[in-house]
Amino acid sequence: MQNKILLGQNKISVALQERSYDIVIGKNALENLVGFLATKTYSKIFIITDENVAKLHLPRLKAIIPNAEIVITEAGEQTKSFSFLEKICEEILAKGIDRKSLIIAFGGGVIGDLSGFIAAILLRGIDFVQIPTTLLSCVDSSVGGKTAINSKSGKNLIGSFYQPKLVICDLNFLATLPLREIKAGYGEVVKYGLIRDLEFFEFLEQNHQRIFSLDYEVMAKIITRSCQIKAEIVAADERESGDRALLNFGHTFGHTFETEAKYSNELLHGEAVALGMLMAAKMSQDFGWISAADFTRILAHFKDCDLVTNPNQIRQNWNEENLTNHLFHDKKHENKNLTFILLKKIGTAVVEKNVELKKFKKVLQEFLIAKQ
Ligand SMILES: NC(=O)c1ccc[n+]([C@@H]2O[C@H](COP(=O)([O-])OP(=O)(O)OC[C@H]3O[C@@H](n4cnc5c(N)ncnc54)[C@H](O)[C@@H]3O)[C@@H](O)[C@H]2O)c1
Repeated sequence: MQNKILLGQNKISVALQERSYDIVIGKNALENLVGFLATKTYSKIFIITDENVAKLHLPRLKAIIPNAEIVITEAGEQTKSFSFLEKICEEILAKGIDRKSLIIAFGGGVIGDLSGFIAAILLRGIDFVQIPTTLLSCVDSSVGGKTAINSKSGKNLIGSFYQPKLVICDLNFLATLPLREIKAGYGEVVKYGLIRDLEFFEFLEQNHQRIFSLDYEVMAKIITRSCQIKAEIVAADERESGDRALLNFGHTFGHTFETEAKYSNELLHGEAVALGMLMAAKMSQDFGWISAADFTRILAHFKDCDLVTNPNQIRQNWNEENLTNHLFHDKKHENKNLTFILLKKIGTAVVEKNVELKKFKKVLQEFLIAKQ
């Protein structure tokens, strides 16, 4: 790892000129909200959260901002939709919002993506702060400014790039997260090692059990390193015209399964990404880039972590034709030319354009048949 990470609270800056902001990570990091708000003169603060997070953690946030207006929505991917967008926007407008208001997204990636988009479009854009409460949202969705809702035609197709003013990852919130959600978030953590940092991947190979048992020292370290990598990539390519696409490693394969599972609990986003990364690693091996030994090493780590390594663990009899069709609804493909993020070696990824469909099909068929 390039930077030594210390215990306690860590701060990462996302350098985007006038849109720059900090990510604060640590136990009790929520306290940083007090200092942030003291430097601002917000007329009104809206907290958008879901019913699970509200039940478990809202009192802690309300203790800091007792006058905030609270908007509680259903939990789950279905909230990233036009109907919920409309409902929440109308609720906020009815409560009275002006351009000096602040929106706080308090929850996982669903709440972050939806609230960020609401902040981007209400009154043509008002400030927003991300307080992620899942591992996935701490290491990925709360950083980088991608906000979106889903469409019938696919996931995250309606949205905007809109950066938050601050991200607070308070590790205490993660204590109530089900192990399945921790593991789904871990999929995105491993992604950073695989695409950018072999040493980080090695650290994960040695310490994953401490993550699953919520060892705060290790949690702080892996969230910080993940955010550092994401911040570096986003700062260099905010609107994904180049290297930011590397962050989509595993997502193209993953999205086809997620779409086929209708974004349901059958397959969580992070689980789909884990499966997709393994398939992309296999495609990288087919290109002659990573060795068979490297593929086996990645697979072994995923098995050690009990991540999804085969689609048959989710469902028997996937419809291969449907899975292939979903590929073409992924916004990452320009003019139907297939683009995949592949590994040159563990720790180095590349954007590979114009991949032949038969290469995708070969990997898909191997995984659909295999029992690994
Ligand atoms: N914007 C981006 O760059 C980006 C990146 C990756 C993923 N995403 C999006 O993120 C979403 C997935 O996010 P997610 O995995 O956080 O899912 P999520 O927001 O649905 O949260 C998962 C579940 O955990 C519950 N929960 C949240 N915090 C909790 C806590 N502390 N304790 C107990 N339960 C808690 C939620 O209520 C929900 O039921 C997807 O929509 C995906 O598209 C966006």
